Amino acid sequence: MVNDDSFVIRKALKVRGKSLAFRNAAVGDAEFILSLRTDEDRSRYLSYTSPDLRAQQDWLAKYAEASDQAYFIIESLAGEPLGTVRLYDPKGDSFCWGSWILKRDRPSWAAMESALMVYSYAVDHLGFHRSHFDVRKGNEKVWTFHERFGAVRVAENELDYFYELGLDAIRASLAKYRRYLPESVSVEWLNTVSN
Ligand SMILES: CC(C)(COP(=O)(O)OP(=O)(O)OC[C@H]1O[C@@H](n2cnc3c(N)ncnc32)[C@H](O)[C@@H]1OP(=O)(O)O)[C@@H](O)C(=O)NCCC(=O)NCCS
Repeated sequence: MVNDDSFVIRKALKVRGKSLAFRNAAVGDAEFILSLRTDEDRSRYLSYTSPDLRAQQDWLAKYAEASDQAYFIIESLAGEPLGTVRLYDPKGDSFCWGSWILKRDRPSWAAMESALMVYSYAVDHLGFHRSHFDVRKGNEKVWTFHERFGAVRVAENELDYFYELGLDAIRASLAKYRRYLPESVSVEWLNTVSN
């Protein structure tokens, strides 16, 4: 039996990949996040977000106090914000990820590189062995993307498909798609703890 306490979703100040970085989300990102989450096309398969800026700022202020999830702004290495991604809901040695959005004029490789960065961060730096997540049934492009990564559909309800991805599949995808992320991500931890 896995000890639930031994797997923790730590936040990082910065996670660097090949051409992208993840930066810990802050209250100042509320406007950018709202612009993505209230874009009709981008948000079709996401849970509802109030268009109220103050509510988004409050959500981010609460996030700053949370210790069970990591919410990132996906940026170019030059610091241009491109999207968001979130790691949350640790269950034993499995982590969940989602809130994955890239703006419309994203580079074509951003989806691949950001997904690989999530797995590299979670497996190489946080020590997780598996991932679980759900995708709206209508979001066919996205569940097809995950299935090409080796995600296995394990359940469904009226709205969603539920997926799991084991360590072997994660490692196989990191190897198969290494041209998008040739090395493990590098991490600058919050609170000056280094790794
Ligand atoms: C989810 C999201 C971030 C994915 O990004 P995306 O850029 O749309 O991803 P795509 O599936 O188009 O993949 C990007 C490119 O990588 C390519 N690609 C995808 N999987 C690939 C694979 N396994 N091998 C090689 N190339 C692959 C695609 O062909 C595409 O190339 P192209 O731009 O030349 O067509 C984006 O669609 C989005 O923001 N959606 C709205 C929010 C959402 O629904 N999020 C998911 C719920 S959590």
